[in-house]
Amino acid sequence: MERPAESLLEVHGLHVAYGKAEVVHGVSFDVRAGEFVVLLGRNGAGKSTILHAVSGLIPKRAGSVRYAGRDIGAATPRDIVRVGLVQVLEGHRVFHSLTVEDNLLIGTYARNPRGDRSKLARVYAMFPEMAQKRHQLASRLSGGQQQILAVAQGVIGEPRLLILDEPSAGLAPLVIDRILEVAAQLCRDGMAVLLVEQLVERALRHGHYCYLVETGRIGGEGSTQEIQGSDLLQRIYLGH
Ligand SMILES: Nc1ncnc2c1ncn2[C@@H]1O[C@H](COP(=O)(O)OP(=O)(O)OP(=O)(O)O)[C@@H](O)[C@H]1O
Ligand SMILES: [Mg+2]
Repeated sequence: MERPAESLLEVHGLHVAYGKAEVVHGVSFDVRAGEFVVLLGRNGAGKSTILHAVSGLIPKRAGSVRYAGRDIGAATPRDIVRVGLVQVLEGHRVFHSLTVEDNLLIGTYARNPRGDRSKLARVYAMFPEMAQKRHQLASRLSGGQQQILAVAQGVIGEPRLLILDEPSAGLAPLVIDRILEVAAQLCRDGMAVLLVEQLVERALRHGHYCYLVETGRIGGEGSTQEIQGSDLLQRIYLGH
């Protein structure tokens, strides 16, 4: 399948360091409008670091990040959310002392500081288990439900690009499939997805295009079908 023509996120020559230790060494990739892109790579390869730099959560040493034609390289995380790029962080981070509904409303704050209740119905239709538990404290949810809440909190902001960092971590297979299927459905409805995932098979099944991250560099790329059948995966994960 051809990639869509319109670029939504363009990352070029990205370098990121923690103190003096550079861990991302000149990474370039892009996500096209409405595309489902997967970033794969071993533990510690630099995937989360790349995502955090794109979302403005950590500083970049060098490189450019453009989103929907604008340079967002120096934008604050809040401004980045406001232009329609939302990242769901690793490890289902939700506010435990707030209810499900209040957690969801937080996802609307970037565009409306008082919260936008009109957006709730759409996410409750998409995630009926969240509607059922709307008045419960997030701390009472299971890990899987907290992850669904974290994804729902991202989706309620109606991003054009949703970034998911290992949504499967620690979850049961059924919940993982559910989350990836929701992401794929949102993608069919026009949203772009950038997914980091350790579950290679599942990620390749849902994604359209794939980049392989190898110790802070892009070690290969291709359509998910091409990558599925190539020996690049073995090189990246098994080292031969
Ligand atoms: N806050 C930090 N301070 C210093 N070094 C860090 C920090 N966060 C990550 N690193 C290092 O940067 C490198 C890349 O880490 P990163 O978390 O981006 O990898 P990852 O590909 O997301 O791994 P995983 O699959 O385990 O989530 C690793 O060597 C890691 O030890
Ligand atoms: Mg990570």
